Amino acid sequence: MYTHSSLPRFTCLFAIALTAILAPIGLLAQPGKGNIKPKKIKASATSSAPNATHEWHLPDTLGMNGYVSALMAKMTLEEKIGQLNLPTVGFDVTGPVLSKDVEGKIQKGLVGGVFNTFTPVAVRKLQEKALKETRLGIPLLFGFDVIHGHRTIFPIPLGLSCTWNMNLIQNTAQVAATESSTDGLNWTFSPMVDIARDPRWGRVSEGAGEDPFLGSAVGAAMVRGYQGAIQNTLNQPTNIMACVKHFGLYGAAEAGRDYNTVDMSEYKMYNDYFPPYRACVAEGVGSAMASFNDINGMPATCNRWLLTDVLRKEWGFNGMVCTDYTGIAELINHGMGDESTVAKRSLNAGSDMDMVSELFLNKLPELVNKGIVPVSEVDLACRRILNAKYRLGLFSDPYRGLSDDAPARVHLSNQHREIAYQAAVESFVLLQNDWLIDEPKAGKYSQTAAGEPTSALPLSPDANIAWIGPYIKDKRNLIGNWSGAGDYKQAISLWEALHAGKKWDGQALNDWEKRGWDNESNYALGCNALEDEALIARLNEHGGMIEKSAKSPQALIDEAVALAKTKEVVVVYLGETFGMSGEAASRSNIQLPENQKALLRALAATGKPIVLLLMNGRPLDLSEESTLASSILVTWFPGTQAGLAVRDVLFGKVSPSGKLTMTFPRSVGQVPIYYNAKNTGRPFDEKQKYTSKYLDIQNTPLFAFGHGLSYGKTALGFGGAIANSDTLVLDARTANAQVEFDVVVLHVGGLSHSETIQLYTHQRSAMFTRPVKELKRFQKVAVNVEDNIRATEHKAVTFTLGAKDFSYFDESGKPILEAGLYDVWIGTASDQLPLHKVVKVVK
Ligand code: NOJ
Repeated sequence: MYTHSSLPRFTCLFAIALTAILAPIGLLAQPGKGNIKPKKIKASATSSAPNATHEWHLPDTLGMNGYVSALMAKMTLEEKIGQLNLPTVGFDVTGPVLSKDVEGKIQKGLVGGVFNTFTPVAVRKLQEKALKETRLGIPLLFGFDVIHGHRTIFPIPLGLSCTWNMNLIQNTAQVAATESSTDGLNWTFSPMVDIARDPRWGRVSEGAGEDPFLGSAVGAAMVRGYQGAIQNTLNQPTNIMACVKHFGLYGAAEAGRDYNTVDMSEYKMYNDYFPPYRACVAEGVGSAMASFNDINGMPATCNRWLLTDVLRKEWGFNGMVCTDYTGIAELINHGMGDESTVAKRSLNAGSDMDMVSELFLNKLPELVNKGIVPVSEVDLACRRILNAKYRLGLFSDPYRGLSDDAPARVHLSNQHREIAYQAAVESFVLLQNDWLIDEPKAGKYSQTAAGEPTSALPLSPDANIAWIGPYIKDKRNLIGNWSGAGDYKQAISLWEALHAGKKWDGQALNDWEKRGWDNESNYALGCNALEDEALIARLNEHGGMIEKSAKSPQALIDEAVALAKTKEVVVVYLGETFGMSGEAASRSNIQLPENQKALLRALAATGKPIVLLLMNGRPLDLSEESTLASSILVTWFPGTQAGLAVRDVLFGKVSPSGKLTMTFPRSVGQVPIYYNAKNTGRPFDEKQKYTSKYLDIQNTPLFAFGHGLSYGKTALGFGGAIANSDTLVLDARTANAQVEFDVVVLHVGGLSHSETIQLYTHQRSAMFTRPVKELKRFQKVAVNVEDNIRATEHKAVTFTLGAKDFSYFDESGKPILEAGLYDVWIGTASDQLPLHKVVKVVK
């Protein structure tokens, strides 16, 4: 019996950790403890052509279908079923479900692809086995969880989404593809596009947040980045196949508990949860992953409606579907039948490739031979996998130009680090930056030279700053969870970035670098990341790397307070450790750890302005912190260039521009909470008891979707022809009818910055209940100081909406457009929408 406790994350994470250790020394191609003795294979130093003795290695004149048909005509049933098998390599020490004797199976033609193996040496060794030792020499797929970078690590996906910068996100995926393909990989299990409205769920860190429109744009950008900006160029060696996951609705797990049940109306699926998967399909994503969860009583892995009717027939997906890790075997726990039954049901539903459970491999031959499973179903799945290999160009160049010296040239290059820096800077969200007028002890820090009140950020390089907290010097957490083949030692900590005399970015030393902030007398640890021994043990068991100071919590706080008292301003870096979000990392309490809160309270009691930096993989409940700190900057897990990015935003070299893509609640009790909610029949009214609200807390979130401050101020106005008309008409009877909104963006104070202008719609009256607002457009624009001076050169943004933007899906997934009145709001956050027009849709 497969049990959850013996399965997933330990295996996944441990496997990845081992991969990182073993791969560089070429040990990944060693077999497990199986009884098949490995043949000695000498891996050649450079890529070689496939074994030319296989007759199917003909010049490709047949096109994909002809080529794959010709190949399949030569395959035995066992060989076809072998293509459906996706084991993880070599980790025979971590549990009963880990793949065994992978090399032996490759030699017998019983493997279609492997995952968790990379580096030219290891990949070449396995690929050579497949090419030269199997009867037909069919090349392998090499997959890996390249989630937010491969060697150069970018901010976690939730952070990346907060950039609202699709070109940048696409660039990060492209860099990840370039770096991972140089390591022999041709397939990533990304993008993860599960809509998430529940911050208790640890995997919110891996996605783009709560909004279907933004989530669709992010997913599509990542597919373009991995697979190539031009569709059907997967065969370029630096492009890799993307895998949209987890299909479907995995982010709606009940109670935010990982792997839990999903029960949802189809109306909600189609309108709120399906759009990002669908957008990736429209972008030509090569593969999709079935999710672990059940949906309305049917697990995704064996859900034919989901994997075939919706994904393929309705959306036109023509790639391959793989299961999630042991997903088929887990159907036994779901109560779907015995091993044979779940193998049969999964194949019939549309799962093509079996990740790790090997039930296709072990059960399908007999099921087909007995006539229980039609061979046509095996053929179909096999064809889809071979099609993927064809599209990747593996039949003509199975090594995809693999070379031993490329990684050193490509990995962590200056250009890649520059993109990581930019992504980090743009991902930070300035949640609050209060005036310091109530903080007299801040001295000169509470006002500008002209006597104006000021805020703590940006920091003045002249200020005396206390640097406090467990993440000021930390490196391990910077690259976050699911950090691919990333090495945290390559990441730059904030403390290092503050180092005097070191030119991290190759530029002349700037003021704060000259100051030498890293003088130990400016620093105090203040608290450990965690004090809870049980939690530390749990996290460390899976590579959490959490260490504690020998000093008592009170001694640490006392030191920090003593330091703070001698300074003008306190920068304190707190938050979650990287293992506190991600897979199997749900939390029922989404506050900062209690020992960190104790430190913050003590620091606030000094009366000094507090700049709270946060490292976190999910929205947190910051209700108390928002009253203790003057400024709060969320940095997520920022990646390889973390320290430089945090430093530059703190000192105002760059103005923060990130916007939340997930709502930050006031309390976990409000969860699930999201901006595009329904109005209800009794909308909130403070004075009326019988309206939709809580007795003990407000309805509004602490920080809304789309919120994020900067060091500059923007004013918006309507421009152009629509400025003087309150109602616009969209006549849907005219083909391509559209309405345009010209928006004038003015810089009206503070520093140059970027602002993301957001457009939301609302249907006033409809056949179904509709959300109070829905994001439909956004654009990030640079708002520079000069824009104010040369008023005629102010930024103008034009948003164009067509009939499709006012339509939605009914309960059967059919798009409907209704005549009537629609509100359109434009602003800088879902709760900051000063511009309003009405659109009348005529049909
Ligand atoms: C399980 C996770 O759910 C999935 O996201 C990941 O791609 C696979 N393991 C492979 O590691």
